[in-house]
Amino acid sequence: MPSLSFTAALGLLSLLPAAQAGWNQNSNNNIVVYWGQNSGSVGQNRLSYYCQNAPDVDVINISFMVGITNLNLNLANVGNNCTSFPQAPNLLNCPQVAADIVECQQTYGKTIMMSLFGSTYSESGFSSSSAAVSAAQEIWAMYGPVQSGNSTPRPFGNAVVDGFDFDLEDPIENNMEPFAAELKTLMNANTSKKFYLSAAPQCPYPDVSDQSFLNGQVAFDWVNVQFYNNGCGVSHYPTDFNWATWDNWAKTVSANKNAKVLIGTPANVGGANAGSFPTDSQLSGAINLAKGSSSFGGVMLWDMAQLFSNTGYLAKIVADLGGSSSPPPPPPPSTTLATVTRTSTASTGPTSSPPSGGNGGSVPQWGQCGGNGYTGPTQCQAPFKCVVESEWWSSCQ
Ligand SMILES: *[C@@H]1O[C@H](CO)[C@@H](O)[C@H](O)[C@H]1NC(C)=O
Ligand SMILES: *[C@@H]1O[C@H](CO)[C@@H](O)[C@H](O)[C@H]1NC(C)=O
Repeated sequence: MPSLSFTAALGLLSLLPAAQAGWNQNSNNNIVVYWGQNSGSVGQNRLSYYCQNAPDVDVINISFMVGITNLNLNLANVGNNCTSFPQAPNLLNCPQVAADIVECQQTYGKTIMMSLFGSTYSESGFSSSSAAVSAAQEIWAMYGPVQSGNSTPRPFGNAVVDGFDFDLEDPIENNMEPFAAELKTLMNANTSKKFYLSAAPQCPYPDVSDQSFLNGQVAFDWVNVQFYNNGCGVSHYPTDFNWATWDNWAKTVSANKNAKVLIGTPANVGGANAGSFPTDSQLSGAINLAKGSSSFGGVMLWDMAQLFSNTGYLAKIVADLGGSSSPPPPPPPSTTLATVTRTSTASTGPTSSPPSGGNGGSVPQWGQCGGNGYTGPTQCQAPFKCVVESEWWSSCQ
């Protein structure tokens, strides 16, 4: 969705759907983009770059945790800026991503999901139900709220993700449902913050890799259906695009009858998904069809690096969804970013000091300073004031 603060400044507010930053379960125009895999090797930037420059993107999916029994985090070229843990040599230790997650959440209102598995995952699930439960507890200790006294390595330090995404493409998966159920239980037990669970099945129904947990008892908030690389994809609209099947899944099969279905589509003609890139009119047609269903939740794009190499594509999709695209907000000066980061980490330590600069606060112009569920800094830099724009979003103006 367009960044509310920026569109308000342009006076376009009345033209927009209920705009907000971050995932909105009641919206049909969420935009979810995967980051971390540098698909097509077009040049992937650090996470904060995209949060600063993609105001229309609500959810960013960090991909992937490719090994869980044998801990393995793969972030393609981003891994060059990480180290590893002595006790888990394939687990990346990424302070830069940690800082970027906090900035994306607090300054730009993004929902940051940790994507598990991915197409190279080959552990076929867990050896037993109890092994699955232990693995879920370990993943929660790694990426969920910091647990004092727990020595599980945390790839993103004290940053806490907003939820987990299952992208399973391994056809054999044992005990995946107890894994999902335990993760969901741990997420629900924390009432101070809303955590989400999503999955990325392929469009042929039922998806071979995901059926045990998508047809089961675990409530997923949304599915990023991969409507590509298959005959049921958007590039086969209108004849074989199987939207109705997934709409039916959401309403009659899903444990969560309010689950949203997103149209997943490649972000560019090249890369790994060449051959299933839809024409503009096919994508517009598919989105229009889906808009007629209450289960429609928006669009998922694979992936961020491809999206940024396809100029104008995000704006086209925002228009198809019924919004007006916003140009990126003016990036805050780097000294401001440093202040935001410092303030948020310092506030957890014993020697917390007031934000520097003597201007009263740390949140820059257009940064988030309030809203339901927001826990970041609330004081605006002078001369800006924190303006309430919706239940979910206040920003410095
Ligand atoms: C690696 O870190 C450098 C220096 O901060 C940054 O400019 C670059 O974007 C980072 N690369 C990735 C892929 O995250
Ligand atoms: C719940 O999550 C919040 C946000 O990450 C965290 O600060 C808090 O400690 C968590 N509570 C429990 C009981 O884990």
